[in-house]
Amino acid sequence: MKNQLMQSPFGPFLRAIKVRYIKIIMQLSLIKVFLYDYKKFKKYSGINGFNRKNSLKAWLLFDIHRLEKGLVLKNTRPKFGKSPILAILNNLEKYRNILGYGRNEPAFQNDEIVNYAISILKQYDCYHQSIGVLHYFNENKLFCEYISYENQKISGVKTIDIEELDFDNFETVVSTRFSCREFKKCPVANDDITKAVQLAISTPSVCNRQHWRVRFLQGKECKDVLELQNGNAPFRDEIENILVITSDLGNLLTPYERYQQYIDGGMFSMSILNALHHFKIGSCALNWASSLKQDIDIYNMKIIPRNEAVIMIVAIGYYEKTVNATCSTRLGIDSIMYN
Ligand SMILES: Cc1cc2nc3c(=O)[nH]c(=O)nc-3n(C[C@H](O)[C@H](O)[C@H](O)COP(=O)(O)O)c2cc1C
Repeated sequence: MKNQLMQSPFGPFLRAIKVRYIKIIMQLSLIKVFLYDYKKFKKYSGINGFNRKNSLKAWLLFDIHRLEKGLVLKNTRPKFGKSPILAILNNLEKYRNILGYGRNEPAFQNDEIVNYAISILKQYDCYHQSIGVLHYFNENKLFCEYISYENQKISGVKTIDIEELDFDNFETVVSTRFSCREFKKCPVANDDITKAVQLAISTPSVCNRQHWRVRFLQGKECKDVLELQNGNAPFRDEIENILVITSDLGNLLTPYERYQQYIDGGMFSMSILNALHHFKIGSCALNWASSLKQDIDIYNMKIIPRNEAVIMIVAIGYYEKTVNATCSTRLGIDSIMYN
């Protein structure tokens, strides 16, 4: 009956109605899933502090890393980092109150996150001592108390001897890759980028759609894009080459694939970072957690078509012989894997 109707003179009209109907259903589903996501994110993300303990941990890791990034620079600015230190001191107190420990209790001092925080405060203080400069917290009671605790150096800066690394073994490539924020001052060869992208193309993607795209930028275009990005200002002078990784939204076919660009694009980006390291090219992922204005501005530069979503920018360059990098200490397996 259905087939007969479709083949009757009314067929084209009915088909047009069917297409329109499917479009309307897709649009309604899209609104529904985004509203669902909106509610979920509003309720459970760190924006409203649903799980205060977890959000505090995230803020602490965030501010610890801000200090690491200040210390790793070739020209660290004396007395930098007033706001992350204030935030760390404040959040450590809140975190301690939630845990219900006294400051001197070993359980508090041995907490994984507290340890990172104390370690970075110590590194910060040591750096200032080494250059003979007093920082804002020299007389801060809480700061002085924290840096008096016994603690191992687990955050701060590490120096990597590039010639000592093994670039051929999967395990060592993955475990020795690091975010590089200082590079040789020269262009990266197009052939080297092509090799890395070629390797990264073996990343899996939803129904093998491979919707990722890569643009390799140097010169003015590179600097203009970096101007728009939030996390590179202190080491921008070091960066002469970037990749912009995007995903072509035209490949995503239903409302339920609304984040697939970031999932597949994120996996592809990770493969790029590992492949670059394998070919001895340093890299640093740069977030595109952009404001609406930044996102609109990047399209206005006419480097990326509007149908592509920016996944991330990657600063790249050849390694110097030795490189200073942030420790970016990882959480223990128990914090990650729940059985
Ligand atoms: C998606 C993403 C965005 C990032 N954005 C920045 C950034 O804007 N600026 C920066 O200096 N580092 C950035 N990083 C690098 C992280 O700080 C770094 O990966 C993390 O501290 C772990 O250190 P590692 O890469 O040396 O292992 C980013 C990393 C990722 C994965």
